[in-house]
Amino acid sequence: MKERAESMDIAVVGAGYVGLTTGVALAYLGHRVTCIDVDTAKIETLRQGRCPIYETGLQELLELVRHRLEFTDSYSPIRQARIVFIAVGTPGLPDGSPDLSQLEKAAWAIGMHLGEDFTVVVNKSTVPIGSGNWVEALIREAYRSRNGRSADGQFAVASKPEFLREGSALRDTLYPDRVVVGAEHPEALKTLYTLYRPILEQTFPAPAFLPRPEGLGAIPFVATDLASAELIKYAANAFLALKISFINEIAALAEKVGADITQVARGIGLDGRIGTRFLQAGIGWGGSCFGKDTAALLATAREYGLTMPIVEAARQVNYRQRERVVERLLEELKILKGKTIGLLGLAFKPHTDDLRDAPSLDIAKRLMARGAWVRAHDPVALDRARRERPELQLQYCERAEDVFDGADAVMLVTEWPQYRNLPWEELAGKMRVPLIFDGRNFLDPERLARAGFRHLRIGVGSPTLTTA
Ligand code: UGA
Repeated sequence: MKERAESMDIAVVGAGYVGLTTGVALAYLGHRVTCIDVDTAKIETLRQGRCPIYETGLQELLELVRHRLEFTDSYSPIRQARIVFIAVGTPGLPDGSPDLSQLEKAAWAIGMHLGEDFTVVVNKSTVPIGSGNWVEALIREAYRSRNGRSADGQFAVASKPEFLREGSALRDTLYPDRVVVGAEHPEALKTLYTLYRPILEQTFPAPAFLPRPEGLGAIPFVATDLASAELIKYAANAFLALKISFINEIAALAEKVGADITQVARGIGLDGRIGTRFLQAGIGWGGSCFGKDTAALLATAREYGLTMPIVEAARQVNYRQRERVVERLLEELKILKGKTIGLLGLAFKPHTDDLRDAPSLDIAKRLMARGAWVRAHDPVALDRARRERPELQLQYCERAEDVFDGADAVMLVTEWPQYRNLPWEELAGKMRVPLIFDGRNFLDPERLARAGFRHLRIGVGSPTLTTA
């Protein structure tokens, strides 16, 4: 499957985390990319060279490759594109199934604007199994309605599930663990192999601000049928979610028996069959993917008369974790009514300002429902919280230090690196009770002990008192 590296015209429909990262990364590899989005304000921001989301390295790379990038709300660039990516949102509906209305619109628009040359339409949105065929049918129908003839032989639909993590989206795109492509049309498979070859073989020059990980070898290319690629995406997220829920379930027992979950996680993770990653016990997972995708998997299973008790349990353990941390704080403080609780971090994880399904917001709500005053800091997500969650009535602090003022407890919710080196000695004196609940087992226990804090952690039992 050897092909000469060439510059292709690419269109990306949807300029969110996935679409924008994909577009910028492919422009960096030398392609001419047009990002299409219906959100005209976002397009305007991008045209001015500003990145509408906070994502490590994205602004820098965007500036570097602006001459190969176009941003528009018009679908007409699809006519010239050899590859069209679909990267629109598929948010969850109340019954757990994903809302496919954006996908439907995108597929229809692609069909209406398809050019004469063979086009590969690649779905990157996380979609229910079978959506590839549905997208193909929509494109076909739209093409016929516009051109009065069949689109046979003019396009093929492929699936390229996305595994990037928010906060390290570019790194995951340029240096992935694997590239999965679900394509049943040989020409589509060949085109996508050619497109991803510089990544598979790591032949592109690494951006100065995103160096290639040391020792990174060739990246495995996994070619599958459409349904398998779509299922791989859901199964990968469900497995990662259950790995975290598993360690959190063990953490609850560790607290009771006086064990230390960080040691337990290391002890089991070093077994190569288990692996150390995604075994960090804490407040649990949030974000736009694990919750939505596990719910969608359950909804798909239901359609086929199946239950998925393991996936269900992973969700239960995760959402119960948010209540457990509040109960633990209640146990410590006895009364939450009228107490002031500081939260360090609002984003669902560090290096992003994304608040979707963020544990912080759930925890804040639960604390306030018990009568506590909650104040919060986040290095990048405060504006978004004010804008998107006005009903929350949180007291926002611009400086991390301010959440400690007169607080009865401070809970670390998001492990932003800068929190590790706060002036702990000084902060203990600012609180009414120097109690810190480290919801991510992230802070240095010795330093906090020296500063005079009582330091609670997840899955770490209070040390047994030794008697002389
Ligand atoms: C996740 C997957 O990791 C990506 O591979 C996937 O592409 C993405 O969903 C998606 O479907 O779009 P993301 O949600 O960005 O990525 O973030 P993760 O780094 O996976 O973290 C998810 C949550 O799990 C965070 O709240 C994080 O704090 C939590 N987490 C992670 C833990 O509690 N413990 C861990 O050991 C790891």
